[in-house]
Amino acid sequence: MELKNALAQAQDDVVTTLEHYFATQSAAQARILAATQYSVQNGGKRLRPFLVYCVGNMLGANKADLDKAAAAIECIHSYSLVHDDLPAMDDDELRRGRPTCHIAYDEAHAILAGDTLQTIAFELLSGAEFSIDAHAQLKLVNALSKASGLLGMVGGQALDIEATGKTISLNELEQIHKAKTGALLSCAIELGYLCAPNVEQTTKQALDSYGKAIGLAFQVQDDILDIEGDTQTLGKPQGSDLAANKATYPALLGLDGAKQKLQQLYDDAISALDALPYDTAILQQLARYVIARDH
Ligand code: IPE
Ligand code: IPE
Ligand code: MG
Ligand code: MG
Ligand code: MG
Repeated sequence: MELKNALAQAQDDVVTTLEHYFATQSAAQARILAATQYSVQNGGKRLRPFLVYCVGNMLGANKADLDKAAAAIECIHSYSLVHDDLPAMDDDELRRGRPTCHIAYDEAHAILAGDTLQTIAFELLSGAEFSIDAHAQLKLVNALSKASGLLGMVGGQALDIEATGKTISLNELEQIHKAKTGALLSCAIELGYLCAPNVEQTTKQALDSYGKAIGLAFQVQDDILDIEGDTQTLGKPQGSDLAANKATYPALLGLDGAKQKLQQLYDDAISALDALPYDTAILQQLARYVIARDH
């Protein structure tokens, strides 16, 4: 299947899974329910769910298991965006082409919507309906916890805030980007193979290498798009990093240097796939998409 169709399918599937979830929550307080749905049922590329599906399908995982893992990681990602946009963090007013959650609602509801999305993720992952055994399911919960927490997204976001307005080394910047963004993208791949039966260690290793490369590449391109993108296409404010004096690849290496880094990471991702005894065409296309995307 062509990348565009496969991505559209993943987007549909994640929306459907979340609709089913929210249909069971009608007893919730209306405003926090609305703020939560506003923050996750609102477009977005759904790239992390797509990675879960690509890897899981390649390795023969159960579709219903993948649906829950894909929706779970999208909830964590969407929560990270809601909190990232808060005045105390990046202070942005546009996300996915609409007012950010704290603008559409208020700061308290944005904090709570993020918190809620985080708990929904683990509710989905820990439910009883998985086809894999309980031990394998626990590995999903463990992987997503690690990627979201102190040494993953949250830790990276803390480093990012601390580095704002400062001069840091390339190595420090790489650690920030790997943690705040790379960890969740790598985790999407991990969730995909953890849902599948009997996956060889060498396959996991090759997929982890691929995940690390595209995970970092994704944030390098995000930094580049802050300069070269436009607000309409991005669905978020172009120039936000520059205005806030954020530590980014273009700030440290210049645009050309950042683009060279991107190309090198793409090459690393493609060569990691060489080791896999599967049809990796879609993962190759996905790596291309990560470095060439315009939003
Ligand atoms: C934006 O992520 C935040 C970063 C980690 C760079 P995405 O570019 O995947 O945002 P959506 O989900 O498509 O809106
Ligand atoms: C955010 O990085 C990474 C997250 C964990 C949300 P950015 O701050 O660069 O993401 P955008 O550009 O606002 O989407
Ligand atoms: Mg940020
Ligand atoms: Mg931001
Ligand atoms: Mg950014």
